[in-house]
Amino acid sequence: MSDSFKILNGGYSHSSPQFVKGFKNTLKSQSGQNYIDMTMGAGSLIFGHADEEIVEAIEQQAKCSAIFLQNNPVIQSLGQKVSEFLPDSLNNYIFCNTGSEATQRAVRLARAATGKMHIASFQGGWHGMNEWTLLDDGGRFGETQIKSYAGIPCSALEYSLLLPYNDESIWPTLENNADKLAAIIIEPIQGSNPQPEIKSYLTKLVSYCKSLGILVIFDEIITGFRVAKGGATEVFNLEVDIVTYGKVLGGGLPVGLVACNQSVYENTFADPTKSILTGGTFSANPLSAAAGLATLNKLNEQVYTQIADLSDYFRNSLNREFEKFDIPFMANGYKSISRIYFTNSPIQNRKQRDALELPADVQSKFRYELWKVGIIWPTNGIVCMPMTQNISTLDIVINHAVNSAKKVLTFK
Ligand SMILES: Cc1ncc(COP(=O)(O)O)c(C=O)c1O
Repeated sequence: MSDSFKILNGGYSHSSPQFVKGFKNTLKSQSGQNYIDMTMGAGSLIFGHADEEIVEAIEQQAKCSAIFLQNNPVIQSLGQKVSEFLPDSLNNYIFCNTGSEATQRAVRLARAATGKMHIASFQGGWHGMNEWTLLDDGGRFGETQIKSYAGIPCSALEYSLLLPYNDESIWPTLENNADKLAAIIIEPIQGSNPQPEIKSYLTKLVSYCKSLGILVIFDEIITGFRVAKGGATEVFNLEVDIVTYGKVLGGGLPVGLVACNQSVYENTFADPTKSILTGGTFSANPLSAAAGLATLNKLNEQVYTQIADLSDYFRNSLNREFEKFDIPFMANGYKSISRIYFTNSPIQNRKQRDALELPADVQSKFRYELWKVGIIWPTNGIVCMPMTQNISTLDIVINHAVNSAKKVLTFK
């Protein structure tokens, strides 16, 4: 391969393995080896790789040409379908292209609605490449906090406030900053720490923010259309001001969505003194909309039950094996979202996780051991179960995960 260029995206160097085909739960490399893929397009492929109906919908739409920046019936149908999935209060939509774009737009909308400029986010949260929430990269890239600031002006960070997650000490901080805070953005279930027992904290947060005039943005880019039709907002029965979506909604193609309630709409788009930007060459494009619509047409309660049950099986089996072999790891998660913690001590938030887990190099050795036996484990540790998964494949993964754990503990 030529040395005349470099692709700087992480993991995309000339020498990294390249994949040429995906099918259901597997990925085939250029050299012809099949891998069990536990990453599933970073959680975007709820029906696995190359689902026939989704591929067919994309092909049909591609034949009509990719009509960009023009109103089209596919995006209208997707809007209709989304409104049937989401809670009734969330019926104003801005379509965009990625989760990062959605959170960036959500932040701007919150500022425009309130006239306040500060944004609070939580330790261990991840909202993509959005300047306003990159105070803490969640350690995903094994970098120090300072590195994650590179290229972001200090003035941007002055408007950001980082809060400890799942921690009662935030209430006075919110009160003291209420006159500055436009919004607080939170993943209702953090990918870095998917806590099943978070409902009461979220409920308190939402009611506290409401009383203080701080908008709440739920970042449902992982949980949206995955944990239930209406995402975590529906499952926890909470009314929030703005919600962002992505991943599953794109059916494998790039998408982002900001949904806001009527009050945010009244204070932004309906206010003639305010001009809110919604443009973008690929925003609301019919190709992504066709893939999204085909996906939503296949999503139903049976899907949610099946992927949650498979995930329960996965976590319970892993934990049973970890206990049996005295491996100090633990599998935890919520519905179809799971992760292995490299400790078996109880964890309240990401900060505790960082303090208690085995170091990052042990975790990457664990992934490498799995790689050697043909299993791709997500670098961010988040395992999102697809409908194409089955018990026999999971048993293979569980067996190898336990063996890999034993190996890294021996070498530690
Ligand atoms: C919770 C959350 N928010 C935002 C993003 C950013 O989305 P994207 O990678 O599509 O820009 C991600 C991506 O993983 C995410 O998990």
